[in-house]
Amino acid sequence: MRTVYLDHNATTPVDPAVREAMLPYLGDRFGNPSSIHAVGRTARVALDEARDEVAAFIGADPLSVIFLSGGSEANNMAIRGIATAKRDHGRHFVVSAVEHSSVLETCHDLEADGFRTTVVPVDETGMVEPKDVAAAITDETLLVAVLHANNEVGTIQPIEEVAALARERGVPLLVDAVQAAGKMPVDVGALGCDMASFSCHKLYGPKGVGVLHIRQGLELKSLITGGSHEMRRRAGTENVAGIVGFGVACRLAAERREEYEKRMQQLRDRLWKGIAERISGVVLNGNPVSRLPNTLNVSFEAVEGESVVIGLDLEGVAVSTGSACASGKVKPSHVLVAMGLDEARVRGSVRFSLGRGITESDIDHVLEVLPPVIKRLRGRG
Ligand SMILES: Cc1ncc(COP(=O)(O)O)c(C=O)c1O
Repeated sequence: MRTVYLDHNATTPVDPAVREAMLPYLGDRFGNPSSIHAVGRTARVALDEARDEVAAFIGADPLSVIFLSGGSEANNMAIRGIATAKRDHGRHFVVSAVEHSSVLETCHDLEADGFRTTVVPVDETGMVEPKDVAAAITDETLLVAVLHANNEVGTIQPIEEVAALARERGVPLLVDAVQAAGKMPVDVGALGCDMASFSCHKLYGPKGVGVLHIRQGLELKSLITGGSHEMRRRAGTENVAGIVGFGVACRLAAERREEYEKRMQQLRDRLWKGIAERISGVVLNGNPVSRLPNTLNVSFEAVEGESVVIGLDLEGVAVSTGSACASGKVKPSHVLVAMGLDEARVRGSVRFSLGRGITESDIDHVLEVLPPVIKRLRGRG
């Protein structure tokens, strides 16, 4: 059966060039970068080169780039690190309602320790209003977190404006750029943020490796203590092969980004136009203009998104919903709920996230198999 993978916001396949570059570090270049002998120095050189490549890709100083296990750890380190370092200055966070769970849950978890979080609402397209973020800041606020682009609907936030307002108030800004990186330009200097999170497996690299950019001079406690790795900010022998892969993934993403953006947008718009022409009772979720080029989130009237995912899976097409299954019950997507969509629209939502290998013929195949799936599901009701 033909398979079409349209779930690139969940994870991406590892690019063959990334895999090739990693292999020696899973073979005879196995050294520990902290060892002073030649075997260790080989790993250290590779680590430093990768740091330079990642830093160049995100417009940062290499000394501000901390390697860790992924986007979730990066968000945890930013929030918990500042909470621990600055708890005597205040115990308040300001976050957007459409943050990733690794931000929302971490803030929530810290409530037990006396921290409070103001969750700033978004409009019906998933966009935060910078003035609302500024209005939520108090003298107690330790950190503002607004993600660059949302994973479920792809809405891109006005980060520069948020950053300017946070800076005026002297409060650091964390930008979760996990979904934006590689899909649009991300330059932490131009954005004006203090911290930014990245994850390699969304960028055609391996899982289990990420980056937290920390502006020089920002005080932050380490989450993992022990050795003096990563400029004493994150203890633990580095995932050298993964980090080497991250460097190459960033180089490739930079080389291919413009072409990627154009192609993804064309294919995504072909998919949306085709769906709207062939299927009645379907609406677009997310911002129609300020949106990731690869992301299409739609709601089908009178069907459950989960059933569409299963129906398409049986046809070899991989897509997803934003809802999470917890203890046998489907929990609605907090992003779509925050956008104020009604329950039926939330339940009927499906995310198609395109990626590098997708062709026009793949899109046309999806447009062939999707209408009968929807028809069958509606017929059941
Ligand atoms: C916006 C966003 N932030 C953070 C993460 C977490 O990244 P990781 O899977 O590397 O922990 C994800 C993953 O889905 C994400 O989409």
